Amino acid sequence: MENLAMKRTKINKLLNSEFLIDNVLIKGWVRTRRSSKTFSFMEINDGSCLKNIQVIAEIDLENYKEIEKITTGSAVSVKGSLVESPGKGQKWEIHADEVDIINFADETFPLQKKRHSDEFLRTIAHLRPRTNKYGAAFRIRAELAFAIHKFYRDKGFKYINTPILTGSDCEGAGEMFRVTSLNPAVVAEQGKMNFKEDFFGQEANLTVSGQLSAEMFALALGDVYTFGPTFRAENSHTSRHAAEFWMLEPEMAFCDLKGNMDHGEELIKYLTAHVKKNCADDIELFARFVDKNLTKVLDTLINSKYARITYADAVDILQKSGKKFENRVEYGIDFNSEHERFLAEEYFKKPVFLINYPKTIKPFYMRVNDDNSTVAAVDLLAPRIGEIIGGSQREERLDVLETRMDEMGMSKQSYWWYLDSRRFGSVPHSGFGMGFERLVMMLTGITNIRDVIPFPRTPGSIDF
Ligand code: 4AD
Ligand code: MG
Repeated sequence: MENLAMKRTKINKLLNSEFLIDNVLIKGWVRTRRSSKTFSFMEINDGSCLKNIQVIAEIDLENYKEIEKITTGSAVSVKGSLVESPGKGQKWEIHADEVDIINFADETFPLQKKRHSDEFLRTIAHLRPRTNKYGAAFRIRAELAFAIHKFYRDKGFKYINTPILTGSDCEGAGEMFRVTSLNPAVVAEQGKMNFKEDFFGQEANLTVSGQLSAEMFALALGDVYTFGPTFRAENSHTSRHAAEFWMLEPEMAFCDLKGNMDHGEELIKYLTAHVKKNCADDIELFARFVDKNLTKVLDTLINSKYARITYADAVDILQKSGKKFENRVEYGIDFNSEHERFLAEEYFKKPVFLINYPKTIKPFYMRVNDDNSTVAAVDLLAPRIGEIIGGSQREERLDVLETRMDEMGMSKQSYWWYLDSRRFGSVPHSGFGMGFERLVMMLTGITNIRDVIPFPRTPGSIDF
């Protein structure tokens, strides 16, 4: 029987041990097993780290016949001693006193020892975390989530949980998933949705951003952040858009656009240095097999001073680049990924902040500049990723905000509470949203957003 009384030790602890240990218990999944005349070798992984631990089970073990049947993917529990390994490539191995088979994996287990394509692994998203690459990606993702909380805790920011169900459209782009408890048959019969009868008595959606709520809390607690899932029903079939993704959104009172950029730059430098230090083995795997330039990319993120230019400068650079873009560049356009990547990847070769966009292409809440034609928006564009951060200084002046909402045909009534914040002790404040998946992509070299989300949701696909 599997040993549940004794405490198991994680393999990453054992591999870093400084001394022999007599009595250890590990549990995990067998990556490979082979037999020689008098013993069986197993490579076992428990997900705590990239490396496996080697286990030697000798022929005199009582259940040796069973042990010889262990297949790749099986779950086992091993009691034994941690001893120095005579073999090459590892310092320690386990000499087994007992091997309990918790559950066999039959021969249809799809992850036999060979390389699999990312496309194939997406079809078995429930099993892919058992591969080296995906195990590493999701350990890095977990470590980054922790690092975000640590960064903000150390700075005295308060973590706010903003609602996932919402009645307001923050970005005004209309890319929202509707939430309703109305019966579709009744809706069909009536020929319309009677929102008065709906669960909340009005239209409701999944949130596209926690910003508006975060602003209310920044104007009370000073510095806050939200970090949670957001949803967009945009029909973008790109490698950088998901329908459900996580966003980090800091919001800072008494902070202008420059403070906002300084904060974003410090954040990315901190997070990059954190994974470099705390996920060294996993990062090395990506540097060897996924992106040969990764080490250089990470060093640039940590050490370079990010460029800062205006939208107008960017238009100028793109127009003078002599490069043929699929989408023509002229003042007033919203940049496409090809433009963003040219600027970050080819022109600056490092992250670049773009500020002061035309107000016509940005949402209502951004602060109108003195020219009355641009707003204090900021996007951070990164090599290989394009936009990783999008944010702004917020419009804190009630009259200007109301004029803007009128111009955009928005209902001031439904935003009464938001406008209230500009009535009672309004102060300059700023914030941004950072796509968490895009961050993971940037730091691992993974090029498809589907491969950094445990169970991705994209147009036409909601498996698992
Ligand atoms: O630029 P966005 O739309 O900004 C906002 O939502 C603001 N309300 C944030 C704020 O100021 N508090 O989104 C922010 C970031 C983008 O820069 C991008 O990294 C990511 O969120 N993002 C997506 N990531 C994955 N899939 C999508 N469909 C994304 N849309 C945006
Ligand atoms: Mg944006």
